[in-house]
Formats: sequence, C-alpha cells, structure tokens
Amino acid sequence: MIPALDLTRQYQAIAPEVDAAIARVLAAGVFINGPNVAAFEDEIARYVGTRYAVGLNSGTDALHLALRALDVGPGDEVVTTPFSFAATSEVIGIVGATPVFADIDPATFNLDPAAVEAAIGPRTRAIIPVHLYGRPAPMDAIKALARRHHLAVVEDCAQSIGASIDGRRTGSLGTVGAFSFYPSKNLGAYGDGGMIVTDDRDLAERIRRLRAHGAGVKYHHDELGLNSRLDEMQAAILRVKLRHLEAWIEQRGAIAARYTDALASLRRLVLTEVPPATRHVYHQFTIRVLLDRDRLSQSLRERDIQTAIYYPVPLHLQPVHAALGYRPGAFEHAECAANEVLSLPIFPELRDDEVDTVVAGIRETLGANLAPAP
Ligand SMILES: Cc1ncc(COP(=O)(O)O)c(C=O)c1O
Repeated sequence: MIPALDLTRQYQAIAPEVDAAIARVLAAGVFINGPNVAAFEDEIARYVGTRYAVGLNSGTDALHLALRALDVGPGDEVVTTPFSFAATSEVIGIVGATPVFADIDPATFNLDPAAVEAAIGPRTRAIIPVHLYGRPAPMDAIKALARRHHLAVVEDCAQSIGASIDGRRTGSLGTVGAFSFYPSKNLGAYGDGGMIVTDDRDLAERIRRLRAHGAGVKYHHDELGLNSRLDEMQAAILRVKLRHLEAWIEQRGAIAARYTDALASLRRLVLTEVPPATRHVYHQFTIRVLLDRDRLSQSLRERDIQTAIYYPVPLHLQPVHAALGYRPGAFEHAECAANEVLSLPIFPELRDDEVDTVVAGIRETLGANLAPAP
C-alpha cells in the first residue's frame, strides 16, 4: 500500500534522538511550563523571524487566542477563505464575531485579494489568510488592504511552516501567525500542539496570559482565559524535529517536482501555480482533476494508493455556518475546487519508486486523455 502519509517512517529515522529527548523530560519530572517549551518558543521565533512566540495547545487555539487578544468579538466581522479546514472560520464564531467569506484564486487555492477587498465593510476588524497546502497566500496585496482599512492580519500557518515570500517566512508577514503541530503537519508533534508568533509584545503577553486562565501572575486572574499550554514532552519532541525540518521540506519539494514533471502533460489534470519568489513547502501536493475526480481516487484506491480530499465541502456551505445564509453558487471557485481537488501521497520519506507507482496509476486511469506531444 502507498499511504497518503506514514509517520512511522519518520519516527524510525529519528528514533534515537526522540527517545533520548523524551527520556530527559521523564527524568527531569517537569511536564508543564518547562525549559523545553521556553527553548522551543525561542527557536520558532528565530526560525520564523519574529520577536515573540507563545506555545499553545493547538493550532485552533492559536487562531482563537489571536482573535481574543486582538479584541475581536461580537459585532465584528473577519474576512477569510471558504476553502480551508473548519478551524479557520470556527474560531471567528467562537469569539462571537461573524465570518465573512471571500472567494479563492483558482490558480492557487488561496484568497483572491480582489474578493477580500469586496468583502471588507465597516464592521471588518481582521483578515485571516490561509497558506493552504503550504503555498503562501498573496500577502503583499492582503497587507496593503489591511493597512488601508486598519485591519489586523492573522495568518493561518497551520500548513505552511517554512514557506516564504521573498525569503520572509509565513507567520512573520501579518500581525500574528498561528501554527499547528498536529501530527500530520510538516512539523508535527506526537499529540496536539500549536503556537502564535508576532512582533507585537503586548499581543504576545496577552496570549501568554490567556493560555493560563487569564493569569499574568499565578493565581491572579485578570480576564477569562483557558488552559491552552504546549506541554513539555511535545516541545522536547518538536525541538528534535525542528532540526530536521529544512531537510524534510527539501525532500517534499523534490517529490513535488517529480510529480510535476510526470503529470504536466496530462490534459485532464491541472497542476496549480507557485507564484514567483515564493517557497511552497508542499504540506500537500494537490492537483485538480477535471471530470470525475472520484473515479480517479477510486481507481487509485483499487491499486492500493491512498489519496485525500482537502476539503470536500467549502466552509460557507457547512451546517455550522448555516445561519450566515450562504447558498450554493456563492463562491464559484471554492465550490469548484471542492469538487476537483485530489491530494496525492506526499511526505519526506516517500520513495521515488512509490511516486512513480502513483504516477503510473494516474496515467493508466486517464490514459486515453494524454495531451499530444509538443
Ligand atoms: C488550515 C488549518 N487551520 C487550522 C488548523 C487547526 O490546527 P489544530 O488541529 O492544531 O487545532 C489546521 C489543522 O488541523 C489547518 O489545516
């Protein structure tokens, strides 16, 4: 079987380092707010290129607490993409604000700045761009809009650690960046984890308080917070993995290049664009299948090749957001993407022969539709 993702291969490659890090935490007996959390926060801040980083329990909490710290709440609107994981818009509702969706650019799956501009109104307080699949969103245009309308920009970097525009990493481009260390992410923990990064000291301190029951000083609670700490064991594991992250991103890039070379001539597939001067970190390698995506995924499944659909239902059509009143047809490009996308197996340890088997399976299924040679 060729899995969409196999975390055991990565563990095997780094087991001695990970096991030793875990053993050190067990021996030290400090499991919350320990030295690994503080060190990992410093390392991520340095890696991303921000002054501050605050470890949290998940990427969802990172987005949620970023909005709380920006005082986004009832009566406010936040503009975001309808083509993302549920957490992106869920957190807007959780703080009592209203998500306002703007359509994506079909060439990149990321927010279309013109659509964002049209969605901005008098109640808009923030924009949440998502760097979907690890490809940076068009931050220059989004930041220009944010400046013009005095809005905060919360980058959803759950899928994009290490991605950059002109050498500047995602997370350092907006007001605050939110990362997820969910196990399948490019930098994944062995459990849940997340982090915010920012250059704004007040914002970082507020989020530090919010993650600890709103207490700046232990047992002195200034506001309602929650328990959202990154735990010491996960931080120790993530510190080991961070040392390998750049090499893993390079390997993902090589796999993506191999897929691209082999699939570019297939007429019924569309390989999406990587804008100039941007580094795509290929959290996913996602193609568009014109005509019958589900037949292709079924055919690959019969060949023991796993694929995935991120995401089959756009956020504006999810029951959770029914009260917002969006109807099918509201966002043509997001809805089309939901019907056409297919993510192929990709993870750093995926072998070339496995990539070639996936490609062969696709070619055989779509065989009659090869484009003529140039
Ligand atoms: C785009 C996006 N945003 C937010 C999240 C939420 O992260 P977490 O699962 O760590 O809460 C995820 C991943 O799960 C994601 O893919």
